[in-house]
Amino acid sequence: MSQAAIELQDVEYTGKFSLSIWRKLFAYAWPYRRQVVGLFSGALTLGGLEALFPLVTRSVVNEAVAHGAQARLWVCALIYVAFTLLFGITVMAFIRLAGWISSTVSHDLRRRGFEHLQELSFSFYDRRPAGWLVARLTGDCDRLSNIIAWGVLMDVVWSSCNVIGTSTVMLSLNWRLGLWVLVIVPGLVLAGAYFQPRILKLSRAIRKQNSAITGAYNECIAGVRTTKTLVREEHNLREFQAKTGQMYGDSVRNAVLSSLFFPLMLTVGSIGQALALWHGGRMVLATGENPHPDVGTMVAFINCAGSLIWPIWELARVMADLQNAQAAAERVLGLIETEPQVKDTPEALAAMAAVRAHGGPAAGEALDGGPRDIQHVEFRHVNFHYVEGQSVLEDFNLTVGGGQTIALVGPTGGGKSTIVNLLGRFYEPTGGEILINGRDYRQRSLLWLQSSLGIVLQQPHLFSGTIRQNIRYGRLEATDEEVETAARLVCAHEFILKQDKGYDTEVGEGGVKLSTGQKQLVAFARAVLADPQIFIMDEATSSVDTETEQHIQRGLAAVLTGRISFIIAHRLSTIRKADRILVIEGGRIVEQGRHRELIALHGQYYDLYTNQFTEERTSEVLARHAPPAAAKAAPAQ
Ligand SMILES: Nc1ncnc2c1ncn2[C@@H]1O[C@H](COP(=O)(O)OP(=O)(O)OP(=O)(O)O)[C@@H](O)[C@H]1O
Ligand SMILES: [Mg+2]
Repeated sequence: MSQAAIELQDVEYTGKFSLSIWRKLFAYAWPYRRQVVGLFSGALTLGGLEALFPLVTRSVVNEAVAHGAQARLWVCALIYVAFTLLFGITVMAFIRLAGWISSTVSHDLRRRGFEHLQELSFSFYDRRPAGWLVARLTGDCDRLSNIIAWGVLMDVVWSSCNVIGTSTVMLSLNWRLGLWVLVIVPGLVLAGAYFQPRILKLSRAIRKQNSAITGAYNECIAGVRTTKTLVREEHNLREFQAKTGQMYGDSVRNAVLSSLFFPLMLTVGSIGQALALWHGGRMVLATGENPHPDVGTMVAFINCAGSLIWPIWELARVMADLQNAQAAAERVLGLIETEPQVKDTPEALAAMAAVRAHGGPAAGEALDGGPRDIQHVEFRHVNFHYVEGQSVLEDFNLTVGGGQTIALVGPTGGGKSTIVNLLGRFYEPTGGEILINGRDYRQRSLLWLQSSLGIVLQQPHLFSGTIRQNIRYGRLEATDEEVETAARLVCAHEFILKQDKGYDTEVGEGGVKLSTGQKQLVAFARAVLADPQIFIMDEATSSVDTETEQHIQRGLAAVLTGRISFIIAHRLSTIRKADRILVIEGGRIVEQGRHRELIALHGQYYDLYTNQFTEERTSEVLARHAPPAAAKAAPAQ
């Protein structure tokens, strides 16, 4: 996936503060509003307490100046200790609460994101690399929950209260001196307004590059075997270096800007402190000034001016962070709010709600109130494209009755997988309609249709876990006996028992510990257990040994009996048994019929048959006529 493509996929940022984004984001914290109010109050208390510290200092100094050796310093010390204790306890409670809110909101965002990912259509995944999605669900979710709890509630509220409290204290102690110090605020705002957008822009660029790099890592790891066999390491490294080089450059520029911005803020803040010292000092010395600040007030002022820098610094940092977080929020919310392209119509949803309200479906009825059983399927004048202007299916027509097995054959890229993807409503036709029992399938619920399907893909995916768990994935409530019956039916039982822990053998991530043929057998068992009405199989072209091949064939025969089946067939044995063979080329049916009829036709199928399957036929003949030991040694197909 190219960098440009990833950039195109990202939501376009406005760069401006977007209230609606923050409102949506805070909606995730709304269920925890009591804790949020607690955190808010904590921040207020902390800000207030910090602002009051200089007043305690002032009383101590004035007490000492007024009473000398008789000063009741222990009372002041006690007040100071009480203040500090209260401060410490509040900070402790505050950190616990902020941590809790941050983890909980992050957890909610991830769960919501994960749930949504499962609802999204295939087309969504066509356009987004896995690394991009992983980065959204990990880094961005964390960043957001942190910014809500720590950034907004803690830093913004605490720092704002501190600034407001300190300013109030200064103005009430001596308004003229207070104003002298507060004169630095516009300087701070100006510095922020110049640097923040630039830092933000670079941060966004870095984030995008990071997504691309994560995607590249994923691709590199997933395709490491291919890379090695094609000796592409050098080339891949150069591509990767170009990506990281750009990220490096932007990161350095970002660091330079940040290194200028923060000291500048600090310097402007210190100017305020210097002004307080200079002007306050002159006021104390000028006896004519009325009212002139006492020594305690002067010390309090120096403290105030000093302590004002940090919350303003902190606010500036959070403001920059908030902009970053807004970018992350736009992406996470963009992901969560992406509407699945294929979804239930309002009518289908209403029908399902009505069935639920009546206590569930009646006998023979599906969850959406329509008939449960599938009698026949029809593609009527179906057009389809993945990309606008690049038609894949054009005026495709097909009618399949109950119990029929349809084999789809034809050259690569002809549209075979597309046909079964449309049947499963993983994509919807862009023209024409697909009818099930004579009704457009878009009028029925996705849940009913997709739970009526059993699909074994070209590269069946197994999830990490045991063989038993993988078979049960098709019907979670199935008993161990049912799992084993399904495995026996598809002739997977024998190979499973040969594994060191039988059904409890771990298959590894994606089923890496099993061969492709074994994975297919497990996937068959999974499909059989779910007892689907329509069986779809994208047959593996990869070679399996003759023995496994025979297992697969017997398993397949068991699965096909009595169901509508669509088999994208590469194996001669499957094709021969099909009720109808469709030769698909360029998104059209160019020939159809039974094996013998098509052979007699001497057309496309005949060519395919004679070219593609000669080898298979030879090995089949060899396997049939050779003694058992020799059969095993015959070239695998
Ligand atoms: N997700 C996708 N996005 C865009 N184009 C796609 C997508 N999937 C398939 N295509 C295109 O649609 C056409 C039909 O592809 P399809 O996968 O249906 O072919 P196929 O007959 O199953 O081929 P094969 O025998 O190689 O599996 C091809 O030109 C392919 O490039
Ligand atoms: Mg295919």
